[in-house]
Amino acid sequence: MVVEKNAPLQPWNTFGIVARAQTFVRVRSVADLHAVLADPELAPAPKWVLGGGSNIILTGDVKPVVLKMEIKGLRLVQETDRAWIVEAGAGEVWHDAVAWTLAQGFPGLENLALIPGTVGASPVQNIGAYGVELQDRFASLDAIDLATGQSFSLDAAQCGFGYRDSVFKHAPSESTDGSSMPRGMGLAGRAVITHVRFRLPKPWKPVLGYLDLERRRIEAGVDQPTAQQIFDWVCDIRRAKLPDPAVLGNAGSFFKNPTVTPEQCTDIIARDPKIVHYPMPDGSIKLAAGWLIDACGWKGKSVGKAGVYEKQALVLVNRGHGQDSVTGGEVMTLAKAIQTSVYERFGIRLEPEPVVW
Ligand code: EPU
Repeated sequence: MVVEKNAPLQPWNTFGIVARAQTFVRVRSVADLHAVLADPELAPAPKWVLGGGSNIILTGDVKPVVLKMEIKGLRLVQETDRAWIVEAGAGEVWHDAVAWTLAQGFPGLENLALIPGTVGASPVQNIGAYGVELQDRFASLDAIDLATGQSFSLDAAQCGFGYRDSVFKHAPSESTDGSSMPRGMGLAGRAVITHVRFRLPKPWKPVLGYLDLERRRIEAGVDQPTAQQIFDWVCDIRRAKLPDPAVLGNAGSFFKNPTVTPEQCTDIIARDPKIVHYPMPDGSIKLAAGWLIDACGWKGKSVGKAGVYEKQALVLVNRGHGQDSVTGGEVMTLAKAIQTSVYERFGIRLEPEPVVW
């Protein structure tokens, strides 16, 4: 294991915020984790798990021991008539893992191409895009309990997946009303994911319902696209709409898409007939947070060095550079101003998607 003191975190968060970790440990194997838990100085200290840093806002230096997950490895663990089961190390870059599965002839993750971050972070927030969520392709994961050092595995039901949600986002004592997770099941700060297994169903079927993808399919004049074509279209769509964190710091969608009751929606439609809304299977209505923010006039605006991306109002960006980057405080000031104006106009409270440290 490699331990660094007072390590800069700017290279490790896609927003590009300047912050430091008092203690930064690169974890390249399960043995490294056991070494941390056996170390007299590191073992008793609070820990903070860092993957690709694509879903965090740092509002200060990080005092807990940062465990930078770098466990690698991609392999087919099982093939049956009904599925390929593929395992990936938590430290694999998500997009590279998706590309690898396709290159090996195991389709199923193509709609999730180009999502920033690592494999280990993918179940934490149940990543999703273009009609597919991680939970639709998830088999199981391995993790280590940071308190006891014991390994354990979880299946999909035990992960308590919800919209951008899982047991890994909740504190152990927290009850999550409306989710499938019983009180006491939260694993935030308690477990570290080391490997994830995906179940890629056979025969492969394209998922095309999403408007942007349908448009691409019609333009290409293709009835039955291949997984590779869908992968390429998703990459194109994302590149056109979402800023590349290597060029412009950001953390993807900054707010979750809110849900409202049909009555609330009818009320809003009466005032704003153009509002983008999608009926959900449970009878609720999902609203596009990007549309709400856009409607409040925020697209392209900035507060200090925190900005609202000009092509997608749901993405907040870093308008600073290098050491003169945006601060986490500035980002949260902009986020609060957006929340206030959306609440004042629509009566809806937007909930941030990234983890705010
Ligand atoms: N819209 C606007 N103005 C904007 C942005 C969006 O009017 O500035 C409208 C669009 O025209 C569209 C609707 O809002 O009708 C939805 O926009 P989009 O298709 O871009 O998707 P989204 O709901 O904003 C979600 C996910 C993305 C995911 C895409 C594609 C969340 C919070 N975000 O965005 O996930 O890539 O759908 O499936 O659920 C992420 O989580 O970081 C992320 C990027």
